Amino acid sequence: MLDAQTTAQPHVIRREDYRAPDWMVPEIALDFDLDAAVTTVHAVLKVERNGSDAGPLRLDGDGLTPESVRVDGREAEYHMDGDTLVVPLDGAMHHVETVVRIAPERNTQLMGLYASGGNLCTQCEAEGFRRITFFPDRPDVLTRYRVRMEADKTRYPVLLSNGDPVASGDLDHGRHWAEWNDPFPKPCYLFALVAGDLAVNRGTFTTRSGREVQLGIWVREKDLAKTEHALEALKTSMAWDERVYGREYDLDVFNIVAVDDFNFGAMENKGLNIFNSRYILADPDTATDQDYDAIAGVVAHEYFHNWSGNRITCRDWFQLSLKEGFTVFRDQSFSADQGSAAVKRIEDVRALRAAQFPEDAGPLAHPIRPDSFIEISNFYTATIYNKGAEVIRMMATMLGPQKFRAATDLYFSRFDGTAATCEDFVRCMEEAGEIDLSQFRLWYSQAGTPRVTASLSHEQGSDRALLTLRQSVPATPGQPDKQPMVLPLKLKLFSETDGSAFGPEQLVLLSDLESEIAFEGVSERPVLSINRGFSAPVVIETDRSAADLAFLSAHDDDPFARYEAMQQLMLDTMIAGVLHGRTDHAPVIEAVANTLGDERLDAAFIAEAVLLPSENFVGDQMATVDPDAIHRVREALRRDLGRSLEGLWRQAYEASRADRFELTPAAKGARRLRTVSLGYINAGGAPDAAGLAFLQFEQADNMSDRQGALGVLANGSSDKRVAALDIFYNRYSDNGLVLDKWFSTQALSGRDDTLDQVEQLARHKDFTLANPNRARSLVGAFSVNQRAFHDASGRGYRFLADQLLALDKLNPQTAAKLLPPLGRWRRFDADRAEKMRAELERILATPGLSKDMFEQAERSLK
Ligand code: ARG
Ligand code: ZN
Repeated sequence: MLDAQTTAQPHVIRREDYRAPDWMVPEIALDFDLDAAVTTVHAVLKVERNGSDAGPLRLDGDGLTPESVRVDGREAEYHMDGDTLVVPLDGAMHHVETVVRIAPERNTQLMGLYASGGNLCTQCEAEGFRRITFFPDRPDVLTRYRVRMEADKTRYPVLLSNGDPVASGDLDHGRHWAEWNDPFPKPCYLFALVAGDLAVNRGTFTTRSGREVQLGIWVREKDLAKTEHALEALKTSMAWDERVYGREYDLDVFNIVAVDDFNFGAMENKGLNIFNSRYILADPDTATDQDYDAIAGVVAHEYFHNWSGNRITCRDWFQLSLKEGFTVFRDQSFSADQGSAAVKRIEDVRALRAAQFPEDAGPLAHPIRPDSFIEISNFYTATIYNKGAEVIRMMATMLGPQKFRAATDLYFSRFDGTAATCEDFVRCMEEAGEIDLSQFRLWYSQAGTPRVTASLSHEQGSDRALLTLRQSVPATPGQPDKQPMVLPLKLKLFSETDGSAFGPEQLVLLSDLESEIAFEGVSERPVLSINRGFSAPVVIETDRSAADLAFLSAHDDDPFARYEAMQQLMLDTMIAGVLHGRTDHAPVIEAVANTLGDERLDAAFIAEAVLLPSENFVGDQMATVDPDAIHRVREALRRDLGRSLEGLWRQAYEASRADRFELTPAAKGARRLRTVSLGYINAGGAPDAAGLAFLQFEQADNMSDRQGALGVLANGSSDKRVAALDIFYNRYSDNGLVLDKWFSTQALSGRDDTLDQVEQLARHKDFTLANPNRARSLVGAFSVNQRAFHDASGRGYRFLADQLLALDKLNPQTAAKLLPPLGRWRRFDADRAEKMRAELERILATPGLSKDMFEQAERSLK
C-alpha cells in the first residue's frame, strides 16, 4: 500500500521519452504450481542484449518478492529498485530464472492471476503480467511462450493457456498437469491462463485456406445453454474478417472463457480470449436484444484483435488507439453488416456523444494518442476507443473502399509480427491511398471536439447557393491553441418544394478555418443536409429553422441525417424550454407523427428516431447545466408527445406485438418500438398505462419486453411498481447478470426519490463492490442519472465519493473509471460546483489513495 507521501507525486510517463528496450526476451518457459491461496511461478527467460547499452537487466514486478534468482543455472546477484528486479549481466545472452509466490484469492484488483467463482484466471493488459512474474512488461518485447500448469485435478480439471495444447497427464495426490505452446511471439500483456471447473461448447471453423480450427466457449456447467449465440458470433466474425479484410485465423484452437469478475468487457489474449460473462451468456429469458448485439460485437472485437492487436501490436501504450480505434471501427462495421447499418450508426454516434464528447469537453480531455500518463489504465477511454474509431472511419471515407482495403493490406503485411505505431498506420493509408495526410494527423495530437458552423445563402431568383463553413477546435487542458483540422463533411442540398435533391451527395474536406462552397443549378432556397452519416465526429451548428429540420426529418434520403434532423429539432425545442420557460411543442409533435406514420421506415429506425435526446445530452449543450429544469422540460415534452399522439403510440404498440420470439433484426426492431411506445403511452398519463406495462411485464417471453416494461414501471408511481420490482428480483435472484439490471433500472429511474433508493440499494444484501459489474450497475448507473446525481443537496456527490473511496481499496482500476462524473463540476452552478470540488478534494486528501484515483482526481480539479 502506498502512503500519503508517495501518492502525492506519482511518476509521469511521457511519449517523447520512448526508448527501445535494452534487453529482448525471445523465449520464456513458465511453470505454474496453481493454488488459490498460494501459487508458485517459476520463469526461465532467455534474454538477449538489444543495442550497445551495457546496463543490467531490469525486470518489472508489482508486489513480487523474488524467492530465488539464477543466471545460467547459478545463484545470481541481484537487487531491488523499488518493485523492479535488477540483475547485472556481463554477456549478450543469458538464461535468467526467477521464482515467486503469489496469492490469487487475495487479488481483489483483478489484475494478474486472480480467483473468480472458484476458478483461476488472468488479466494482463496493460500491466498485469508484472503481478505474476518478473518481466520487461512493455508491449515491444515479443516472446515465444511455453507454459506448464500443475493443479488439483478435482478443483481445476481444465487447464488452458495461449496457443496450442502440447501434452498433459496425471500426477500423484490427485494433481494433474498440462502444457501449452504459443508459436507466435507476443507481448506479455497477451499472456493468459485459466484453471477451473468448466464446461465447453465446442464448434469448428474451416478457414478459407483449409485449416480446421477447434473453437471452444468455456463456462460453468449451468451456463452451457447460454453460449450458442457467442459461438455463432465467433464463426460469423471469422468468416467476415476473411471476406472483408482478407485476414485468416492462424492457430488450430481458439478458446473463449467467461468469468463473472472482470474489470471491463473482454480481453484478446492470443488464442485464449477471456470475457466478462455479460458479453457471452445469453438466452431469451435473461438477455435483452441489446445484450445479444453487444455479445456479437464484443466477440467480434476480441476476435478481430488477433490481427489488429496481436499479430501487429503497439510499440508503447501511447499507441493504444492503433489497436483499439481500428478494432472498434472493425467491430462497428461487422455489426452494421449483420442488421440495419443505419440503426447501428445511430447507436454508435449516440454512444460517442454520451461518453466521448463530454470527455473531450472536460478536464480529462486527451488526444487519441496521448502525450503522458501516470496510470495507463486510466486511458482505456471513449476517446482512445470511440474517437479512435471515428478517425479510422474518416480515413476510410476519404480513401474510398478499394484504396482503404489496399491500405490495410499494406499495413498488415508490412508490420506483421511487429510492435507498430499510429504513424506507421497513417503512412500506409497515405501510400496506398495516394493521399497526403499531413494535416489530418492533427486528429492524433489535438484533443477537443471541433465545431463547425454552416450557413447557406441563396439569393432569390438566382441559380446559385453559397455555403460558408467555419471551424474551431476548443482549447483543452495543456492545449490552449489549436490548428484547423481536416474535416470530411458529406453534404447534399434538397428542394423544399418537392423533396428532390440538387445534385448528388458531395464529400467536402474542410481544412481551413473558413471556406466557401458554391452550388450551381440551385433554383430555389435549398435545405442543407450536412455531416451525413456523421462523416466527421464534430459538432455542427447551423441556422436551420424548425421547419427545415422537420422537412429533413421527413425527406432526407440519408437515414442518419433524418434521425439527426429530428434530434436537432427536439434539442432546440428543449433548450428553448429551459432558457425561456415556454416553448412550442408542435413542430416536434408533428415530426414524430410523420415518422410514426411513414410506412417506408422500419420499426428499429422509428424507435431510435422518436426518442428524445437524453437529459445529459441536453445538459452538454448548455453553458450551465440546470438538471432540474432539463428534467422538467423533457418530461413535459414527453407527456405532450404521449398525450397528443396517444392513438399512434397505441397503434405502434399493437402492430409490434409478436406471437413468438425471434432474434431477427425485424423482430428486435418491433420489440424496441413496442417498449418505446409503451413509455410514451405512460408518459402521456393514460390511466391504463401501468396496467399495460404490468401485463407486458408478466406475459413477456423475453428479457427485452420484461425489462422494458419494468423500466416504465420503475419510473412511475403506480402500485404495480414495487410488485414488479419484487417479482423480478425473486425470479432472477440466482442470476447475477439479471440482478445487475434490477440495480441499474432503479438507479436510472426518473422518480423524485431515486437518490434515497440508491443509498438504500447500496446496503442491499446483494450489493457488493467486489464485483465490478455490480459496482457499475448501481454506482455507475446512478452517476449518469443527471437529475438524481446532481441533487442540490450534494448527497449524490458524497455517495459517489464514498463508494469510490471504498472501491479504491479493493480495485483501483474500476474505481478510477467511475470518477469522471465528479469532474464535470465546471459545467454546473457555483453551489453544485463547490460541492463537487469538495468531494474531489476529499478523495485526493485520502491517505493510501491509488495512483489510478490520484491521477483522475487531480486532473479533474484542474
Ligand atoms: N484490450 C481489451 C479490449 O479492448 C481491453 C483491455 C482493457 N484494459 C484495461 N486496463 N482497462 O478488448
Ligand atoms: Zn479492444
